[in-house]
Amino acid sequence: MTSFQIREMTGGDLDAVGDVTAAGNFGDRREFFRLAVALSSCRPIVAMSDGHPIGTGLGSIHGDVGWVGVIFVTPELRGRGIGRALTEAVCEILEGAGCRSLVLVATDLGRPVYERLGFREQTRYHMHPGEPHGEPPSVPPGTNLRPITPADLDAVAALDRRVAGEERRPLIEAYASDGWLLSDDDAAAGLRGYLLPTHRGNAALIAPRPEDALCLIDLHRHLTPKDARAWTGLLTDNEQGRRLLTERGSMEWRTFPRMVRGSEPEWKPEMIWGQFNHAMG
Ligand SMILES: CC(C)(COP(=O)(O)OP(=O)(O)OC[C@H]1O[C@@H](n2cnc3c(N)ncnc32)[C@H](O)[C@@H]1OP(=O)(O)O)[C@@H](O)C(=O)NCCC(=O)NCCS
Repeated sequence: MTSFQIREMTGGDLDAVGDVTAAGNFGDRREFFRLAVALSSCRPIVAMSDGHPIGTGLGSIHGDVGWVGVIFVTPELRGRGIGRALTEAVCEILEGAGCRSLVLVATDLGRPVYERLGFREQTRYHMHPGEPHGEPPSVPPGTNLRPITPADLDAVAALDRRVAGEERRPLIEAYASDGWLLSDDDAAAGLRGYLLPTHRGNAALIAPRPEDALCLIDLHRHLTPKDARAWTGLLTDNEQGRRLLTERGSMEWRTFPRMVRGSEPEWKPEMIWGQFNHAMG
């Protein structure tokens, strides 16, 4: 029996945590957890045994909706209930913070653990890798594509809230300096969509109109370094978007289940084209 304790992750844990996730083929998550430790909406945790990290987890509080992410256990200690204990700890943190819908994106290894804890598949994320390309996107007539400024944050957060059904302002602010928005030439008509590139070719992308989304997807490809992929992630519910991407020759790489426990958030999945990452939505 392995004895372990679960506690809050701090900045002092980042190097050891980065080493253990990298050694366990889960990637070096140092920079990701550095952001999580700093963000007011995030509660990262670590499982410790004999003074060493052996597992991780993250809760992200987005108003009524809470995200469960980066549940990881070092490979030699799997199958002993540590993954379940980490998941339960994150769920308790989120429910304690008032979240009524708990959401996650599951891998094949994680899914059975989550099902036993009452999560069910709600829909799926369809992941498309985009080749980087040099040309700037062509912009729909009557619109204006430009970097996000601090004065835009209220409008970006309001569009995000209306579509995602979550309060993600801290995340939006964390990535806003690299973000872009598409608006009507007539500024009073408002915001039509946004792109917030994050890490590893991911980008949150919300646009109610498909033609605007395609423009922002092309911008994402234009901004992505040549040695990376520009990912888009569409929900099963975004049937028109998935058809349009297929018509453009974009290949679906694979799909991941979005699982929910508690009430289903009110959202507009057909207007979502990309995620910050799979740990926070
Ligand atoms: C997913 C992951 C965190 C699960 O961690 P874990 O510690 O193995 O999880 P648990 O031990 O709680 O549960 C796993 C299995 O062990 C079984 N188990 C749980 N407690 C047990 C115990 N005390 N004794 C023996 N088996 C036990 C569970 O029933 C489960 O059985 P299953 O193989 O039929 O699913 C781990 O596989 C991992 O890190 N994977 C890579 C990262 C990843 O994919 N994370 C999920 C992101 S969504």
